Amino acid sequence: MTTTLFTDLSQVVTCESADESCVKTGAAVAVAEGKIVAVGPERDLLVRFPDAERIRCGGGVITPGFVDSHTHAVFGRWRAEVYAMRCRGVPYMEIARRGGGINASVNDLRERSEDELVEISRRRIREMLRFGTTTAEVKSGYGLRTEDELKTLRVIRRLHDEGPVDLIPTFMGAHEFPPEYRERRRAYVELVTEEMIPAVAEAGLAVFCDVFMEPGVFNAIETRKILEAGLAHGLIPKLHADELENSGGAELAVELGAASADHLGEISDAGIRAIARSETVATLLPATLMFLGRKSYAPARRLLDLGATIALATDFNPGSSPTPSMPIVLTIACSQMGLDPLEALVAATAGGARALRLEDGRGTLRAGAPADLVVWAASDYREIPYRFGVNLVRGVWKRGTRVV
Ligand code: NIG
Ligand code: FE
Repeated sequence: MTTTLFTDLSQVVTCESADESCVKTGAAVAVAEGKIVAVGPERDLLVRFPDAERIRCGGGVITPGFVDSHTHAVFGRWRAEVYAMRCRGVPYMEIARRGGGINASVNDLRERSEDELVEISRRRIREMLRFGTTTAEVKSGYGLRTEDELKTLRVIRRLHDEGPVDLIPTFMGAHEFPPEYRERRRAYVELVTEEMIPAVAEAGLAVFCDVFMEPGVFNAIETRKILEAGLAHGLIPKLHADELENSGGAELAVELGAASADHLGEISDAGIRAIARSETVATLLPATLMFLGRKSYAPARRLLDLGATIALATDFNPGSSPTPSMPIVLTIACSQMGLDPLEALVAATAGGARALRLEDGRGTLRAGAPADLVVWAASDYREIPYRFGVNLVRGVWKRGTRVV
């Protein structure tokens, strides 16, 4: 068994907790057969593994790879044509009403073949990887027809099988009402619950089921129906909750035992308390609210102070968050939501793994966890959010193999 030792590191950040005890100096990481076998003082590991191959990291920082637990990374073209409108202050929902929203991406994705979507999305996943993401959740939701939702989920499956980034699939047929069902909401909900969910579950193409619950999109009754149908078919609920307006989404997510409630820009006080008391992870997507020009963010500090688990993710999508970069998300989380850099880093790694119910140690550096590692061209982990706009990734390893 060959062992690899990552040495000459200024810091090893294990992300096992959000306190300074997880920032180790003078430490090294030992990897064998795709897993971490030890994290400890470099001189001890050099003695313990005398024959190890050595990777000298030039005084850099090592962290777990990011677990980006909320993306819509499979889509066709960008929607840059509506960006100027957004900059002039036209709200997200108004742009959608004028035809520049999710349904623009739906019309586009329906026209594309599975192979074409694999090609386009592979490049996007590659970009995420270059910013340090080694595991990502990806949602369907630009098909909104059984065949196109299945096509999207097959794209996710193919790119996962191809690697190197692990992709966790979420079915989101309830991302929007497609144009042909605008006036027949009940019929669309029925299509999702009676046809799409059984087909997706039968094909084993998704782990989670997500709904865009928001005034003007899916209401509480429709959302509950869909998530319960998902549960009946073994799909774990997730929820786009209280993103732009409060509608009790956080409370519903908790009631249904959702793995996560996501966005939460307008979560109520009762919602905060419900999340804090529950196992449901609060997944915060500050790049979205920044990009939409909103002036306030999810109450990250209050959630943390009351004991909630938080995750940070990109929400990578062509409408509200066209960035594949987790480091940018960290910067916004620190500068706008008042997280400290370590809290943000832990939320983007171990927190993301919690939101995806990954229980193999992913998102942390500890013996037994997959060796998903990022070496940074920085001597202090705080530089990751601090030096925003610069890609400080020096190397990425997925299950012990160098991929960047
Ligand atoms: O999470 N809120 C709904 N879905 C995405 C936006 C998707 C899009 O505009 O294409 C989001 O913000
Ligand atoms: Fe989203």
